[in-house]
Amino acid sequence: MNAPVKALETWRRLPAAQQPTWPDPAAVRAVTAELAAYPPLVFAGECDELRSRLAAVARGKAFLLQGGDCAETFNAVTADQVKAKLKTLLQMAAIFTYALAVPVIKVGRIAGQYSKPRSKPVETRHGVELPAYRGDAVNGLEFTSQARTPDPERLKQMYRASAATLNLIRAFTTGGFADLRRVHEWNQDFVAQSPVGKRYARLTQGADDALGFLAACAADPAEFRSVDFFASHEALLLDYEAALTRVDARTGLPYDTSGHLLWIGERTRQLDGAHVEFAAGVRNPIAVKLGPASTTDEALALIDKLDPGREPGRLSFITRMGCDKVRDLLPTLVEKVTSSGAQVAWICDPMHGNTFNAASGHKTRRFGDILDEVKGFLEVHDALGTHPGGLHIELTGDNVTECVGGGDEIFTADLHRRYKSACDPRLNCYQSLDLAFEVAKLYRDRAAPAKLHKSALPAAV
Ligand code: PEP
Ligand code: CO
Repeated sequence: MNAPVKALETWRRLPAAQQPTWPDPAAVRAVTAELAAYPPLVFAGECDELRSRLAAVARGKAFLLQGGDCAETFNAVTADQVKAKLKTLLQMAAIFTYALAVPVIKVGRIAGQYSKPRSKPVETRHGVELPAYRGDAVNGLEFTSQARTPDPERLKQMYRASAATLNLIRAFTTGGFADLRRVHEWNQDFVAQSPVGKRYARLTQGADDALGFLAACAADPAEFRSVDFFASHEALLLDYEAALTRVDARTGLPYDTSGHLLWIGERTRQLDGAHVEFAAGVRNPIAVKLGPASTTDEALALIDKLDPGREPGRLSFITRMGCDKVRDLLPTLVEKVTSSGAQVAWICDPMHGNTFNAASGHKTRRFGDILDEVKGFLEVHDALGTHPGGLHIELTGDNVTECVGGGDEIFTADLHRRYKSACDPRLNCYQSLDLAFEVAKLYRDRAAPAKLHKSALPAAV
């Protein structure tokens, strides 16, 4: 069904933050009309499947690992780069699966993460002012007037790049590449070769034993060969998201078929804004980022708008407070949301509250701060008896030098060596595995989580 979904047009009457200033609005209309006739990138049934798995996260029975680039770029849609990212995510997921002993839901910031909100609409260099880079879906990173002029033809490139990436993901996750035994071998290699490998030897040995046991029990070796992997991105460019929205023939309900899980960013989560209105109208699982300025009232109002049926799996809150604030700000939020009866999944983004500029001018993050925010997130949830449901990480499968610290330490003086990000600094493949092992240890070693006051728990828990 290709006609615009009528019920979903209400967002157009509301202010939409962070939209590009397209030079020719008629050209945007022509492009989105074309996109509306293209096939869906993901299917409604897959979105439903992810929603039901996220329901298990909200109920404390599963863990979400969501990760990928801050900003995907069109020139990085190569088999090697997609494979490396997937490999890193699968390795992290295997570490969590063993250490947490619950299903790990794997979601990429991938196949659609092509647009960025910006703190300033313009960028100035040496007295020259140009529009800020808003992601490959909008304009080019190069600092020239031509590259920085928003071009709606790029929305079609975004569709094609997403389709090509999804095609690779579907091939890699079902064609044997993702075989759990192989992923485990990669982890063993990392432990053997990493300077801090010894610290993790016990965890991998345990995983080895567990895997051997499972393999011996498995009736069908194919059980290990494929994994379910989902795609997510920030639903920022509403013209694009609306053009990809289709009514599902089975349910008669609208789904945004640009990705399985869509999130609303910290800068576009206004209650009376177009992004929340748009997301309220589609059936995909939705996440909202909550930064340090978020209030409990806002969180409760977001639940009313986005999850009026209080359906576990529909709504996740991705908190990104910063390592120095998480222990102060998160408890009230989690406590009040929990006592309201809502069952959201709580996910920790330890990246976006911990960014700073190094003396060299590079935007960076410290590995230690990232780990500390996860630690604070766990402490808060353990004290309340709620489920620390998952992690949201900016990472790449390549050996970049964008974040400092980690087992194979990167120093600020190294940042210039392989700083490739088009936007925020990402953990490289080794830092990502280090983080997974460190977080796995935190989960494994924590004292039994305290019980939340019975009165504060919804009846269904
Ligand atoms: C992001 O996820 O890249 C981002 C911009 O995050 P936030 O909306 O939390 O600032
Ligand atoms: Co980012």
